[in-house]
Amino acid sequence: MSPEFTSPSSSSDRRISVLARHLVGVEMDPQNDSISAFPTSGSDSNSAFSHVVRGPEDPILGVTVAYNKDPSPVKLNLGVGAYRTEEGKPLVLNVVRKAEQLLVNDTSRVKEYLPITGLAEFNKLSAKLMFGANSPAIQENRVTTVQCLSGTGSLRVGAEFLAKHYHQRTIYIPQPTWGNHPKIFTLAGLSVKTYRYYDPVTRGLNFQGLVEDLNSAPSGAIVLLHACAHNPTGVDPTFQQWEQIRKLMRSKGLMPFFDSAYQGFASGSLDADAQPVRMFVADGGELLLAQSYAKNMGLYGERIGALSIVCKTADVAGRVESQLKLVIRPMYSNPPIHGASIVAAILKDRDLYNEWTIELKAMADRIISMRQKLFEALRARGTPGDWSHIVKQIGMFTFTGLNSKQVAFMTKEYHIYMTSDGRISMAGLSSKTVPHLADAMHAAVKRVV
Ligand SMILES: Cc1ncc(COP(=O)(O)O)c(C=O)c1O
Repeated sequence: MSPEFTSPSSSSDRRISVLARHLVGVEMDPQNDSISAFPTSGSDSNSAFSHVVRGPEDPILGVTVAYNKDPSPVKLNLGVGAYRTEEGKPLVLNVVRKAEQLLVNDTSRVKEYLPITGLAEFNKLSAKLMFGANSPAIQENRVTTVQCLSGTGSLRVGAEFLAKHYHQRTIYIPQPTWGNHPKIFTLAGLSVKTYRYYDPVTRGLNFQGLVEDLNSAPSGAIVLLHACAHNPTGVDPTFQQWEQIRKLMRSKGLMPFFDSAYQGFASGSLDADAQPVRMFVADGGELLLAQSYAKNMGLYGERIGALSIVCKTADVAGRVESQLKLVIRPMYSNPPIHGASIVAAILKDRDLYNEWTIELKAMADRIISMRQKLFEALRARGTPGDWSHIVKQIGMFTFTGLNSKQVAFMTKEYHIYMTSDGRISMAGLSSKTVPHLADAMHAAVKRVV
């Protein structure tokens, strides 16, 4: 049905009318300024957007789109970076349910806007969670933390701040990295370069390549580091290697930008997974940190995370925060309240916090046991190749080493979905689905080169 335009009475109506004329070129009655016909019904030829081409699906989220369309009862989605139970169901942590109940029962709570920087209590607790309860940087008020829209939003706000206020506009990201990184940084105004990270031969860290590339980066360049559980490779430096990376970066004045999307998911311990970041904070130098509660609290859709910038002095931190507010205000004004309230309720209460750590460890342990099961299933089938990297890699993902043709084969013949780089989410596997995956991998390796 065609929309009907009547004679514009107010100035805003007139603006809409002018816009309509401009956009669709419809006939106007010069006497009464009304539109006599609307010729575009049923055709897009007169749309102002008819030139818009269909964009490609996101390479990661597109996997789920394809999976949803597949009617097969044995289909398996290992593309999505979200935790699933042994029954293959999404999990809401008990501790999150409890915290939400507390919030609902508290009738003094209101739904007013948060400040631009978010919920103050959430910010303080998030900094403490990563930097440690006794962090000198926190005690000296050198850390500014702002609540952001999960990890992605924290990265984006941090990158926009750097593009505006930091003297170097080049950011080095690992090769490979999470597919959204280059887009986030480029659109924020940074120029993206890569450093070597993964060695496909050993399916481990290319430490020498990493050191060489950071060594030849220009002084002051920004370097993106995955705090733990590197996505997509599941390969992290050892603590000794982290120490070498820290020394090298500090000696060259490179600016660390940590992305922490998996604290607690890698080892099962929040403190152990925070260690690399804490090493960098302990030397008194500056850094940025993007934190996400999507995975470790299962708060994916709440979009809750934080950006922290550790500065040299409290005075600098205060000024940095004032500028972060200027980045955030025109972007989304202020962040949502619910997820931050859940996280704060859990982090500030000793019992809830302890309960969280137990549930978190259980998720990490289930992932580790899936690694073992898949490894054993491949060995039992005599699948050609050394699959020990499956148990060596850590975190949510395994970088299998399967190529894009083998991945396509597994999707077509076995209805198993994953990103074309061969990354599988161990969190999406269960004891029941391991044999199906192992069969598919075995066939892919044997039949597709
Ligand atoms: C490395 C890495 N960084 C950041 C994110 C951002 O996640 P979110 O915005 O959902 O917190 C992800 C999610 O998959 C990730 O893997």
